[in-house]
Amino acid sequence: MQLSPSVSLESSPSLVDCLEVNNAFAFAKISLFGGHIISFCPKSDQRERLWLSDKTRLDGSKAIRGGVPICWPWFGHHVDSQFPAHGYVREQLWHVTRCEDTGAGTEITLAPETCVGDGFDGLAALRLKIIVGQQLKIELITENIGNSSFSYNAALHSYFSVDDIQRTRLSGLSGKYIDKVAQRTIATTPETYIFSTETDRIHLVAAPQVTIEVPAYSIPIYSEGHDSVVVWNPWIEKSAGMSDMTKQGYLNLLCVETAITQDKILAAGEVHRLVQTIG
Ligand code: BG6
Repeated sequence: MQLSPSVSLESSPSLVDCLEVNNAFAFAKISLFGGHIISFCPKSDQRERLWLSDKTRLDGSKAIRGGVPICWPWFGHHVDSQFPAHGYVREQLWHVTRCEDTGAGTEITLAPETCVGDGFDGLAALRLKIIVGQQLKIELITENIGNSSFSYNAALHSYFSVDDIQRTRLSGLSGKYIDKVAQRTIATTPETYIFSTETDRIHLVAAPQVTIEVPAYSIPIYSEGHDSVVVWNPWIEKSAGMSDMTKQGYLNLLCVETAITQDKILAAGEVHRLVQTIG
């Protein structure tokens, strides 16, 4: 597949292949392992939006910790615990099916090796369309190419870079959430959303915009096609048990995930787009 002038392939024997995008608007880096965006830095303010763990492995042996993992066709744990958390495409090799420079940026479409996997019976075609412009637009497109309907869940599991999680606020969420650190009890979103402990919440709301506010700047996150927004920070103890997190890493990350967690049903021939746009 011919890459457009703003895109180059970074290849090294021991690390995953990455696409580097450098256009008039931004710099971005996309690992073909996982179809995983690991960097987005707009030229207007030169501020990296995504967080990537200093201890993540970039050798293709394990899902990347940071950036934008693609969770599909399920979110979190499968009912059958032998299947990997967050589905099987974040550990697959993806390939480029389209790559084009336009007046608004660079458009890249990727597809995974296969959409078939243990734990999912649907016949689907999956594509990831990434537009690197002034904003980063990520579209996860699921098409039912079979003769019967199937249900699935998914997430654009973005890790955002924050100066200090203890001085970070979130706005744009309201209503009920499932608290995964409190045996999945249902709780009400606080009016002032701050962070002082492990946080793992499935907000059951299709919020169109959530904003991360740190004292010096804010990051708007726009979502479409979702039924939930997941907010996650592992904090100290959980990080300590994760081989790909540094001790201090949790201080600089906040996951805000545009997600489908309520079993989206897709009829034969139907196409669904899950979209996250990062400003
Ligand atoms: C979040 C989940 O989306 O992802 C958390 O809500 C989970 O429960 C986190 O711990 C990270 O998952 P993983 O599989 O990448 O370690």
